[in-house]
Amino acid sequence: MRADRVEITRFLGRFSAQNLQSADQETFGLVSSSNYWFSYSMTVSVRALDLPADANQVQCLMDDSDLCNSPELLKCLASGDAFSLVADTDGIVLGWLVVHTNFRPEYGWVVDADTVRLQSDGNAYLEIISVAIDSRNSGVGTQLIRAAEHKAKSLGKLNLWLHVRDDNAGAIRFYEREQWTYEYSVTPDWRDGQRMRVYSKSLI
Ligand SMILES: CC(C)(COP(=O)(O)OP(=O)(O)OC[C@H]1O[C@@H](n2cnc3c(N)ncnc32)[C@H](O)[C@@H]1OP(=O)(O)O)[C@@H](O)C(=O)NCCC(=O)NCCS
Repeated sequence: MRADRVEITRFLGRFSAQNLQSADQETFGLVSSSNYWFSYSMTVSVRALDLPADANQVQCLMDDSDLCNSPELLKCLASGDAFSLVADTDGIVLGWLVVHTNFRPEYGWVVDADTVRLQSDGNAYLEIISVAIDSRNSGVGTQLIRAAEHKAKSLGKLNLWLHVRDDNAGAIRFYEREQWTYEYSVTPDWRDGQRMRVYSKSLI
């Protein structure tokens, strides 16, 4: 097996045996030409976000916002009013999340009553969770969200909350599988008319 393929296959969940040399097929024990789920082992650890070292890798996981241009988020993280965890394997960031633990109006967020309530007192708010596309559905998100629940609980929080787009079926399935509870739906001003579901997780 060539070294470059090892590097590639570590980040592929599925590949076609048609693309492999016969020697590779022997290595993997493959005999037919259909798609295979490739099982591989890698050590993923969850640790605190390290800025600025992780900034570029984390940026690649963001769809629609720019970490380095989000002064509100950077201020929250720097002041300890939020925490961020990354899933890392050999220095490669596979996913990350941000949880807010204390609301401060001076950060300048566009807010509504929920925004304040869901990150005050016994509440903490999961703002971001994102796993690199090629690493999804292999347990990275589960490892991250469970670590966030543990950390929030250790900070004395009683409940975690989040908003998820009503049409984000994959994420909704993920949260429900992790025993998050659907609470209600809203169309917040800060989401340009997007219907969102609010989910909670009790940490007690
Ligand atoms: C949601 C997300 C963080 C889950 O991370 P992950 O590493 O793929 O999750 P895991 O591998 O630990 O768990 C997979 C589970 O999530 C669910 N899931 C995740 N993505 C899914 C998809 N596209 N379609 C269907 N189910 C999906 C399934 O319930 C799956 O469970 P199963 O293995 O029993 O089928 C990841 O898909 C992601 O980054 N999505 C894009 C960003 C996003 O939507 N974030 C949430 C914003 S609120």
